Order: sequence, then C-alpha cells, then structure tokens
Amino acid sequence: MSLDDVSVDALTLDEKAALASGAGFWYTKPIDRVHVPWIMLTDGPHGLRKQREGGDHLGIGDSIPATCFPPAVGLGSSWDVDLVRRVGRALGVEASSERVGVLLGPGVNIKRSPLCGRNFEYFSEDPVISGTLGAAMVAGIQSQGVGASLKHFAANNQETDRMRVSADVDPRPLREIYLRGFQRVIEEAQPWTVMCSYNRINGVYASEDRWLLSTVLREEWGFEGLVVSDWGAVDDRVAGIEAGMDLEMPSSGGVTDAAIVAAVRDGRLEESVVDRSASRVLGLVRKVLAGAGSAAGPVDVDAHHRLAREAAGRSIVLLKNDGGLLPLARDADVAVIGAFATEPRYQGAGSSLINPTRLDNALDEIRLLAAGKVTHAAGFDLSGAQPAEHLRAEAVAAAARADVAVVFLGLPAATESEGYDRVDIDLPAEQLALLDAVLDANPNTVAVLSNGGVVALPFAPKVPAILEAWLLGQAGGGATADILFGEVNPSAKLTETIPLRLADSPAYLDFPGEHSHVRYGEGLFVGYRWYDARDLDVAFPFGHGLSYTTFEYGQAVATTTPAGDVEIRVLVSNVGDVPGREVVQAYTALSDSRITRPPRELKAFTSVVLEPGECREVGLTIRRKDLAYWDIRVDSWIVEGGSYRVDVAASSRDIRTSVSVDLTGDAVLLPLSRNSTIGEVLAHPVAGPRLMSLFSEMMGDGGPAVMPDGVDISRMLDSFPIGRAAMFAAAGDFGLDPTAMIEGLLSEDS
Ligand code: BGC
Repeated sequence: MSLDDVSVDALTLDEKAALASGAGFWYTKPIDRVHVPWIMLTDGPHGLRKQREGGDHLGIGDSIPATCFPPAVGLGSSWDVDLVRRVGRALGVEASSERVGVLLGPGVNIKRSPLCGRNFEYFSEDPVISGTLGAAMVAGIQSQGVGASLKHFAANNQETDRMRVSADVDPRPLREIYLRGFQRVIEEAQPWTVMCSYNRINGVYASEDRWLLSTVLREEWGFEGLVVSDWGAVDDRVAGIEAGMDLEMPSSGGVTDAAIVAAVRDGRLEESVVDRSASRVLGLVRKVLAGAGSAAGPVDVDAHHRLAREAAGRSIVLLKNDGGLLPLARDADVAVIGAFATEPRYQGAGSSLINPTRLDNALDEIRLLAAGKVTHAAGFDLSGAQPAEHLRAEAVAAAARADVAVVFLGLPAATESEGYDRVDIDLPAEQLALLDAVLDANPNTVAVLSNGGVVALPFAPKVPAILEAWLLGQAGGGATADILFGEVNPSAKLTETIPLRLADSPAYLDFPGEHSHVRYGEGLFVGYRWYDARDLDVAFPFGHGLSYTTFEYGQAVATTTPAGDVEIRVLVSNVGDVPGREVVQAYTALSDSRITRPPRELKAFTSVVLEPGECREVGLTIRRKDLAYWDIRVDSWIVEGGSYRVDVAASSRDIRTSVSVDLTGDAVLLPLSRNSTIGEVLAHPVAGPRLMSLFSEMMGDGGPAVMPDGVDISRMLDSFPIGRAAMFAAAGDFGLDPTAMIEGLLSEDS
C-alpha cells in the first residue's frame, strides 16, 4: 500500500492519537502496520542542527557539521529579499541531503525590547521587514522539497518565564505589529508548518488558542499546513488538539496520546478532531516524501561557505565613517585589537546553535587581504584569566605604532541566549576602557562590534568609524575583512533602532512583566514608532546604514493602481566613486487621522545596485492592505481615507523626498445605538443625513455652528451620545419626543 492510499479511515483511534505527538526529540511516529514512515523535523533557522544521536533542544548535544549562515539579526540587516531566498535554498539543500523533512525556522517575532535574549534569531522591530524576509526564507527552503516551520506563533517576545508568561496585548498592536509579519508569510509563502509558541496570549496558551490557531491562522489567513508545538509548549493536550494544535513535540512518552484516546472514549472530545490532526500529519509526511530527492544536491560545502561570506558582507552595517577612514588602504599598517578578532562570536546560544563546516576569523582574513603590516593584541581576555591592565597596555602600544587601529568589541556569549533575557545593553566596562585607551593612542580607530542584540554606544561621538557586525555566521571573519578593505561596499541598514539608553526604549517600564504577565503598555509604539512619537534622540535610527559611495534621490512620484495599491517611483543616483547598493525605504503618514498612529511607518522597501555616475528609476509598491489599521469596533482591517504622505528615505530619519497620495477609505458601517455619538451618527450613510436635516429644523440651515465666543459646537457635540442628546433636545423644548426621535434616526429603513 502506498502512503497515498492511507487515509485516517484506515487507522485506529490509538494510531491516530499516536500521530499527534512525536517519537523522541526530532521524529514523528511511524505507523508500520499501514506503512506510514517517520519524518524528521529539526533546527533551524540559520543552519541545520541535526544531532547525531539522542537529542535535546537546548543546543547542548553535538550535531553534524553544517553551514552556519548569519543569524537573522545579520541577514535581516541586508534588507535583501533575493539573498534571503538564496540562503533559504541552501538551507533546504543541506536539510534535504540529511533526510530532514522540516527545518524549524524562520523566526519572525518582533524585537519588542532590546533585552530579549533571543533577538539575534529575529529579523526586526518592524513587521513589514520580518514578514517580507520571513516569506523569502520560507520560499527558499521549500523550493528544495523541505518544509519550513514559521515560529514562534505568537507574541513570544521575551525569554523570561517564556513557558508561562501571558503577553497581554491589545487588539490593535497584536494585529498591526505582532501578527502582521506572520500573516504576510502565510499568505505569500504558505509554510508547511507553523510552530506555536510557549507563552500565553491574553491569558490563553498559544498551544490551546482556538482563536489564534484556527480562526485567525486558517479561516482568516488561509493556512493549509500543520501546527506543531514548540518543544514542550503543551500544557493541556486535549484542549490543544481541539484548538487546532496538530502535532505535539517532542514525544510525551505516550502520555498525551492516551489522554486524547480517553477523551474521545468518554465523550469529551469528538473523534473528528483527532482525524483532522492525524490527516494533517499524514499530509505533511506525504509532502516530505514527495519532496525528498528533489533538492539541488549534493551539498557543495565551499559554495555554501562563499554564500555565507556574501550574506555576512551584506549584514554588516557601517554606522559611522568620519573623514572616510574606511575603507582601509591596502598598504596601511593595521593594529588588530580585541579577542573577537581571533575568537569570533558568530551565532547565539540555544536551539539554533550550529556546528559549522569551518570558521573564519577576522585576523587571518585581514592578513590575507592586507599588503601592509598587521599586528595583533588581544586587548582583553574573555575568560578573565589574564590581567586587564597588561593586555590594555599591549594594545595601546600596538595602536600607537600602526596607521590605524581596528578594535573588535562585543558581548560575551553568555550574556545573550535563548532561555533568558539580558539585564542591560552595555558592553563590558573593560572593553569600553580599552577602546578609550586605544583612541587616545591613535585617533584613526575603527570599532567593529559583535553582538546579537543592540548595545549602547557611549563612544559613538568620538570614534570616527563604527561597523555593527552583529553575529555573522561562519564566514563573518572574511566578510569583515572584505568590508574593511572595500572589497565589498557596505549596504546593510539597521532593522532595529539603537537607542541612547535602555531607559529610552519603548517597553522599558513593561519588560519582562511580573507574576507571569507582561503588559504591552507601549501599544503600537514599538521600535522607531516610539522614538519618533516621543521625539527622542537615538544613537542610530532604524533604517540607517552608510556606504562608501553617496546616493542622491530625485522627486518621488506616486500613482494608484486599480487594486488600490500605491506605486512609488523615484530616481536614485550614485554620485560617488565606487559601485554601491542602496536600500530605499518608503514610510507613510496620515496627519489628520481619526485613529492613533505612529508619526511614520515603513510600508515598502527595495534595493538598487548602481555603478558610479549611474542613475536609475526605482519602483516600490505599497500594498493597500498594508495601509489598513485594525478597527476594534468592527473587528476587521480598515483603510482610512485621506491624503497620505509617503516619505521616501535612506533611513527613518533621513527622508530624501516626499509625495502625497489621496486614498478613498473603506466604509465602516457601525451598528448604531443610543450610545453612538453624534459624530458616529453623522458619519453613517443613512442616519447621518437624517440627523443633519433634524439639526436644520431645530437650529436653522447649517445645523450646529459656532457660538459667539468662538466655541465650535459641532466639535463639542461630536462625542455626545445621541440618546442623551435627544433627552437634552426634549428638555430644550424643541417639542420633540426623544424616544420617537431616536427610533426615527436609527431605524434601518432608508
Ligand atoms: C525553541 C525552538 C526550537 C525548538 C527545537 C525550542 O526550545 O524555542 O525555536 O525550534 O526548541 O529545538
């Protein structure tokens, strides 16, 4: 019998329940009687972590060598959809060659606070970036016949108490910020699986949330695949399967299978619910079998290393470059300082920990490219075994003798990891002291940073050149050398704001919560939305990143398509001396909006590669659906009408050209009641004109106007409930019967 002939009808209740949880850490259960094989699901997301034997999901056990690409914090900074797709494809090839059916990634959670220990695994503080790049990653992986697992669904924005904490989020930020990226990935790339998160959302475990896993995910967004639990995210298996959580991972040793069977037998659970999940598992197994062998293998380890180097080069953000200190002249004498130059921090800890096929370090790679003298001083000792003063003195001496000092600073590995959050955003004091001392010895100092979450940069005003090199994967050392010597022109931009102080950050007073609740008090104002609304200075704004060349923008032009999308066209020219790539960003604002809005929100981005002197027209599409806000009165997406300003920008605080576009809004038909305000009744297509004519009868043509002292009566009345206004009208002796007046106004007949 082939698997195509096996349907849930051929399985016993015990077998169906067995399919709803895993075998061991990484496999689904086979059902030998009807020849259903197992499939393997394993991490992800920036490399393959296939454990040799046994298993754990904390990155403790050894795994087979695989290419370690830059984690999302780096890759996301590329803002490069095509590159992310290519990395996804390479991941698919490596997974397929190891008979892995589903790769557990990408993670598209929003970076709500700089403190989240797992920010290195996520793309951005903005859902348009997370969603667009997440979709590209899924498409790349799945093009090789391997499934992706979109994670961690949803509102998993901290590690503290992650297995219990309730993310208490209002509907608008939940929809507009935290779910929007997931929605985009589902609609654009249809991942084979979605991984539900550990946490609760507004009090309900994600693994038991019918609204999340069925209403939103399937009915609204059209998800067709399988929901798998994060490893150990199941609290009540029977409630979970009812809610739409199909596959529990890892194995429960049969305990929850038995619970499902018992619930069916004693009438608490419909057998059809078990059938539904079992058939989704069978569907996934079929897809995996059909995909097996279709990848573009065998794995070319060298080619993947080169791709990892290209991706790492695209991930490095040039934050600052005063006086054109970078790129370095080939024949410059360079003092390379800092332990990270020889012991790279290239990925984060936890379930995404990859055993790389090889590992570049920056010092060796700099030596390969340099024609001048290269010296090295450790500057500090990550283990703390050697005296700091001695190491610092050595580094200062090396810096003083060189033309330029390149200082590698960063966060020690233990400060950021899956499973716990950071407590501050500071680099170790010893490293800051080293940088100061080197700078005193040689003003031509470049700082290169290795960190998975943002760090405060108190030295930014005085250090002439800074490279934010994040965590770059196994080829990061080579990529850093490429950027330092101008072999690669930097083009990455920040996908998260670097604040001046942790205390400025949006979630500062509400992170990580207490007693298993965290209130998302900043609402919609996440990341740059917050800093802009509060008019706060930042160290480096969202979207910022320099190049070794200079780009100029022409005047943007906007048109609308029949579908209601907004097309932006703008000329971008490279007016510098070297080829470069510019990431062009489009933000929208609606100044006279009736709802709460951040001053500006990213809605589209693209990139263009230009030779020196070249000028090209760049097109960006702002989808109408991305302009919608979530209207809690009607529980749906609504585009507000009005004149939108589109800022076309090199960063969120470097607007190069703006253009306005008028859009017709969606009709919002609110059910009217006595508690509807006069403003709401006036906005209603049927009741509004009725009320206007009533006003005319009562007060003469034009309705309520301006009082002698300038007070605007219509503004005053705008928020007045109509039922109570009717009472006032009766008291005011207009000869009206308030009940009849309300009934007449609000009646459904037009
Ligand atoms: C992580 C997931 C990971 C899983 C399997 C969990 O602890 O949250 O991201 O895919 O383990 O390793």
